[in-house]
Amino acid sequence: MITRNRDLKRLNTLGLEAKALWYAAPHSVDALKEVLKDPAYEGLPVLITGSGSNLLFSGDFNGLLIHPDFNEIKITGEDSDYVYVRAGAGVDWDVFVAWCVDRGWGGLENLSLIPGCVGACPVQNIGAYGSEVGDSIHKVEYVDIKSLKEVTLSAPECRFGYRDSIFKRELKSATVITYVTFRLSKYPVINAGYADVAAELSGVENPGLSDVRRAIIDIRRRKLPDPAVIGNAGSFFKNPVVPEALALSIQRDNPSLKLFAAGSGFSKVPAAWLIEQCGFKGKRFGNVGVHPNQALVLVAYDGATGKELLELSDRIRRAVNEKFGIEIEPEVNII
Ligand code: EPU
Repeated sequence: MITRNRDLKRLNTLGLEAKALWYAAPHSVDALKEVLKDPAYEGLPVLITGSGSNLLFSGDFNGLLIHPDFNEIKITGEDSDYVYVRAGAGVDWDVFVAWCVDRGWGGLENLSLIPGCVGACPVQNIGAYGSEVGDSIHKVEYVDIKSLKEVTLSAPECRFGYRDSIFKRELKSATVITYVTFRLSKYPVINAGYADVAAELSGVENPGLSDVRRAIIDIRRRKLPDPAVIGNAGSFFKNPVVPEALALSIQRDNPSLKLFAAGSGFSKVPAAWLIEQCGFKGKRFGNVGVHPNQALVLVAYDGATGKELLELSDRIRRAVNEKFGIEIEPEVNII
């Protein structure tokens, strides 16, 4: 069913007030194509949404918002080492992670409790605690919004990078991802190299997938605000990748700075650290603020507007640039 002037407050985890001119939640690829080719919406901008956990509405959306509500999970193949599972774009991400962990199939456990839907996971190649989803993706199916062609991309064709993929570049705003097929390990190797995870699991002998999942859920609940309680979109900024020489020169003056490898000659600098050093952590400005436990997360209190969030984002970006000479970029999708 297609609704007009749909209230989006509950369809974005920042909880911002906004409306979509048209909203559709098709249950099948055929129904999706019917909506896309309906002349009633011709020429309007199209926006695809999962659970709205990475969207910032700066105002109403005068177009067609589509939530592909495909919810099946199906095992499609198996070989000696892997199981192949195809999941619909509308499947809740963490329900899917729990489903895999319960069966003892590895690859996604470090990505536990990330808000969102399966269809969104390849777009920004969600990553956390030393894992990226691209490493467990076998293929991605999508419908081309203009031609209505159904296309399948292999994982290398998706060109996954840090918070990056072809869906944020050449195919930006051009596709509706319908299904993702994952390649999950039958003999999982636990990835507990990330300092926080190692510390959380220190008392556990031979941790299994469910121990890792529990540890990560505990870490996330401690550090990150629950969008059901306070509006937020997870990390608001990406961690900047900068020339190693610049990162090391900042670290020389600030030994507390932890750097992460980012290919030869480059380092990934935690944006949270940069923001904290500029004095923003835990501060509130009107109806918006910076979370007290994780400076990378901007929060929206009751009554917040997208404009206020963008003003705070600009203020933070300017301060970081002035103090460290580093540009940080929002990772949320600004509409
Ligand atoms: N740090 C600070 N101040 C803070 C928080 C962190 O200085 O307030 C420093 C610490 O030195 C810490 C380092 O930043 O060692 C890294 O912090 P953390 O492990 O919390 O990770 P992050 O780089 O801030 C990234 C992802 C998160 C993901 C975590 C864990 C991005 C943009 N964000 O954050 O993803 O959960 O790693 O792996 O890469 C999300 O995308 O919404 C998200 C929450």
